[in-house]
Formats: sequence, structure tokens, C-alpha cells
Amino acid sequence: MRVAVLGGGRSLEHDVSLRGAMAVAEGLAERGHEVVLVDLARDGRWLHLGEPVSLTPGGGLLGADCVFPVLHGPGGEDGSVQGMLELLDVPYVGSGVLSSALSLDKLAAKDSAKAAGIPQVDYVSVSAERWEREPEAVLAAAAPLARPWWVKAAAGGSSLGMEPVSDDAELGPAIERCLQYDQRVIIEASASGVEVECAILGGPPGDTRVSVPGQIVVTGGGWYDHEAKYTEGGMQLLAPAPLPEPVAEEVKALCLQAFAHADCHGLARVDCFVDLDAPGGPSVLLNEINTLPGFTATSVYAQLWGATGIPYGELLDELLAVALSRPRRLPLETPQA
Ligand SMILES: Nc1ncnc2c1ncn2[C@@H]1O[C@H](COP(=O)(O)OP(=O)(O)O)[C@@H](O)[C@H]1O
Ligand SMILES: [Mg+2]
Repeated sequence: MRVAVLGGGRSLEHDVSLRGAMAVAEGLAERGHEVVLVDLARDGRWLHLGEPVSLTPGGGLLGADCVFPVLHGPGGEDGSVQGMLELLDVPYVGSGVLSSALSLDKLAAKDSAKAAGIPQVDYVSVSAERWEREPEAVLAAAAPLARPWWVKAAAGGSSLGMEPVSDDAELGPAIERCLQYDQRVIIEASASGVEVECAILGGPPGDTRVSVPGQIVVTGGGWYDHEAKYTEGGMQLLAPAPLPEPVAEEVKALCLQAFAHADCHGLARVDCFVDLDAPGGPSVLLNEINTLPGFTATSVYAQLWGATGIPYGELLDELLAVALSRPRRLPLETPQA
């Protein structure tokens, strides 16, 4: 199959994405596919072998049978590139426009999961306008939430545009710092326990597979900040996570529920908080869905599938097969009587 692999992008994760794209390209080539690399440059241009790619609605992408976006953050994972691929009329790996956009926006994702009754931490949302109008009401609403508060820009990611806050006097300044990243901010209650993640592979409900849960252990303790994520040896993955079987099953079920609720497709890594010592018995909460998780052979997503029995190359082939089997949204057809 001829596969266009997209790497780079305009987000802070440009370099991480390029490493993932190279790994995917190598893995696909080893499986016998013809790979076409497309570099999404920092200036916004799409380049192939250094030359701008011509993008014409309905015109496909460099004759590819399928596109494999290996992009993270805004302008890659947020539905914008997915919208471009819809217009180019070419099948692609991963979630569509709506679920990509929904999952990347921390506030929209939380509001949507809340409406579906998916367990997660309590939170308060703050728009720039509300903060200006009634800061006291915002601080009062946040007061009962378990500390440290986690103040996050809705568009944040890679542990940037967010900070834990313990002191009352620091909450207002933290909100203002986060409002510089985005007009919408959330203040979350602190989750206790450990961070556990599952990899998801698949399409429609009933035909979606979930990996064993893996536990993130941050080297030297502390939270899973930017450094822990992107420094070699900054974290360790325990896969499978050392959880009692019923709790592991609960984590898997929650991850599948979150994936289905957000209408994700193909792949996602779903991140949870698990507290085995919660007062009312073990608690499992959704943290977030990553629709285009890191994708090198040593990334958490690939490691979780490795621990579940699907090696990297096979994983790539499965993702292509799932992408090609996805019903296309365009063009709309009149139902036949
Ligand atoms: N409510 C919370 N309770 C405890 N830790 C949190 C909470 N929110 C975030 N964290 C810590 O911050 C990290 C990054 O937060 P997250 O919302 O996952 O943002 P990102 O999209 O940048 O990964 C988490 O992996 C966790 O270590
Ligand atoms: Mg995260």
C-alpha cells in the first residue's frame, strides 16, 4: 500500500512528531509498504522531498491509499489536519474532526464526559470574560476542590500551560498565567493515587480492543511534567500495571467507554487516575484521551500493545486496515428508498 506519513506540525511537539513519523515510516517500510513522507513545516507549508505539496480538494495526497498522521497538539491532533484530509478525500489513520477537536480541548472534553456520567475529577471552568467579571465567585467555586488545584489552559498539552497550585494566594495569578495561553481555563481538583493508561485500537464499538493497563512511574517522584515526559529516563512504564484484576478490568472498561463516548476511531491512549486506597473502595477516574499519542516503538502506546501481544509492525498494519474500513463522512448520499 502507498502510505503518506505526516510529521512535524506547528505545535511545540514538532520534533517529537518527526521522531514518531520516522519510526512509523520505518515500520511501514519493513512491512512492505511504499512510504511517502510529508513534512508539515513550522511555517505551515506541507513539504515532500523539500518541495511544497499541491493540495487540491478532492485530489488526494500524493497518490496515497491512506494517510498516517503522526502529529501532536494544535494543528495536527485537533481536527484541523483531519478536516484537510477529509477535503482531500483520502482515508487516514485515527479519529475524525469532531473527536479530535473534542479530545484535545480540555474544557470541552471535561464538559462532554460529565454529561455522559463518566467519572472524573471535579472542576470549575473560567473564561477570560468570567474572570474579569466575577473573580471572587471563581475563587469561591474552586475553594472546596481537593488541593493542589490543577489550573490548565483548555488548549494546553505536553504538561505546558498548566500548573499545580496549593496556596490560596497563588490561584488568581495561576489563572491569569493560564489565560495567556487560552481564553478558557479549568481549575481541577487533585486526583489521588497513580496514573494508569490503556492503549485502544479499533473502530466501531464491539470491534474495539484495549491493551493491558500500564502505570506511569515518574523518575524521582513528582508529577508527570514536561521534563518527565520528554527526557530520556524521565519515566518508567509498568506494563501490566500492578493492579488487582477487578480494578484493571474497571480501568479497561472506562477507557473503552471514554473512547466510544468521544467517537474516537483507530487509536487513542486513554489516561486515568487510580486510587486503590480511596475511602469508598478503589476509584478509577478519566484524566484525558490522546487521539494521536506518541508513536515511536518505545512510546507508551506501542509498549502497551507490546505487553498485550501486538508487536509494532503488526500494530501499524492493523491501524491501516481499520482506517480503510472506516465509513467515510463525505460525500453525503441520499438514503435509498
Ligand atoms: N487533577 C489532577 N490531579 C493530579 N494530577 C494531575 C491532575 N491534572 C494533571 N495532573 C498531572 O499533570 C499531568 C499532565 O496533565 P494532563 O491534564 O494530562 O495534561 P497534558 O495534556 O499536558 O498531558 C498528568 O499526567 C498528572 O501528572
Ligand atoms: Mg496527559
